[in-house]
Amino acid sequence: MTLSPIPSNTKPDISVYERVESNVRSYCRAIPRQFIRAEGPWMYDSKGGRYLDFLSGCSSLNYGHNHPVLKQALLDYINSDGVTHSLDMHTNAKQAFLEELEATILKPRGLEYKVMFPGPTGTNAVEAALKLARKVTGRSNVIAFTNGFHGMTLGSLACTGNEGKRGGAGVTLTDVSHEPFDGYFGDDIDTADMLEQRLNDPSSGLDPACAILLETVQGEGGLNVASPEWLRKIERIARAHGALLIIDDVQAGCGRTEGFFSFEKSGIKPDIVTMAKSLSGMGLPFALTFFNPELDQWNPGEHNGTFRGNCHAFVTATAALRHFWRTDSFAADIQRRADLLAKSLEQIVADHNGQFKVKGRGMMLGIDVGSGKTATAITRAAFQNGLIIETSGAEDEVVKVLAPLTIDDDVFTVGLRILRHAFHTAMSENKYLAAE
Ligand SMILES: Cc1ncc(COP(=O)(O)O)c(C=O)c1O
Repeated sequence: MTLSPIPSNTKPDISVYERVESNVRSYCRAIPRQFIRAEGPWMYDSKGGRYLDFLSGCSSLNYGHNHPVLKQALLDYINSDGVTHSLDMHTNAKQAFLEELEATILKPRGLEYKVMFPGPTGTNAVEAALKLARKVTGRSNVIAFTNGFHGMTLGSLACTGNEGKRGGAGVTLTDVSHEPFDGYFGDDIDTADMLEQRLNDPSSGLDPACAILLETVQGEGGLNVASPEWLRKIERIARAHGALLIIDDVQAGCGRTEGFFSFEKSGIKPDIVTMAKSLSGMGLPFALTFFNPELDQWNPGEHNGTFRGNCHAFVTATAALRHFWRTDSFAADIQRRADLLAKSLEQIVADHNGQFKVKGRGMMLGIDVGSGKTATAITRAAFQNGLIIETSGAEDEVVKVLAPLTIDDDVFTVGLRILRHAFHTAMSENKYLAAE
């Protein structure tokens, strides 16, 4: 085991968080432990506890914690005094990343995207996408969807549906129309047809849009899935109405739902794609906005940021593309694990007489239990047994599995057994049921 660089006399003391850190902190409330080490799917706390991580940094750790190949690449780079910070200047780390991205991801998929490095977070990638769409089309209105989540800065937040998150803005969130996502009114109503009708009707009140922005699987909004047919219709509608199609792949991309991009099997070709979270492969902050070359109408420095392009993230992201994405075998592995996950979740639903519902796609799957209280009781029971797992959805009603894509089948099975047990525990404890 390698030594931690944190001084060994640092005694775990979580009172400092109460004393010094803002009330805004959130995940640590449900998971009140001090973590000192993490490896693969495991996190270790200061009291010797070991936890299976089915949260994976909210899909920022698709390859698990401290993957040895990525870690070694970073250590070698640091040991060679590689440049850490370079604004957007040329570095060997950046060159290697761009060449790997082009050869391993873009060319094999027939994509000719230009890439820009916005600031290092998902919301930075979305802001850049929105700004570019508005600049290129000269229109301001964006069509976003119910239950969409796109980040916490004002432009992205305006495109986000969640009332609680929007409420924090403190200003009017404008220039976005929120339309019903696929399945919002049930299976019998095609919301793409509704959107088309509204866009075709000059009296609908819907302003012409610069872009249609969506997640193919809504990560924070409850694992709602856009069907391939719906996506293809939305693409056609966008083209017919002069709007750019933006796919926000910040959470669903990097293998979480299928291939490297979440939309590959649908056959659509978005005009703009945003990506962050697992792009660096190691949880380092790193984001990208891809767009069609003819949209590259930026003036130099027009969209700026001190941390555009993070050299350490270039290094680990390059290693991740090389190690996982040069061949199709990783995607096949993901599919096998996704099948195991789907089977296990269906089993849990069957245990409870079909009253719950499996939602999501690929390794971004969960169970809608109908209420946030029940879902929280389940995640709490899971945590008591060493499984870190969170909820999603408008009312936090979906227990959401975001296990590492690299997890061993045996370990995955153990985690899924803990989850099944947590459902039994929570559902049989009267105090939770009485609180419904
Ligand atoms: C789909 C999607 N877009 C954007 C974001 C914002 O990313 P970040 O938190 O890195 O700003 C998130 C974060 O969860 C997300 O899920």
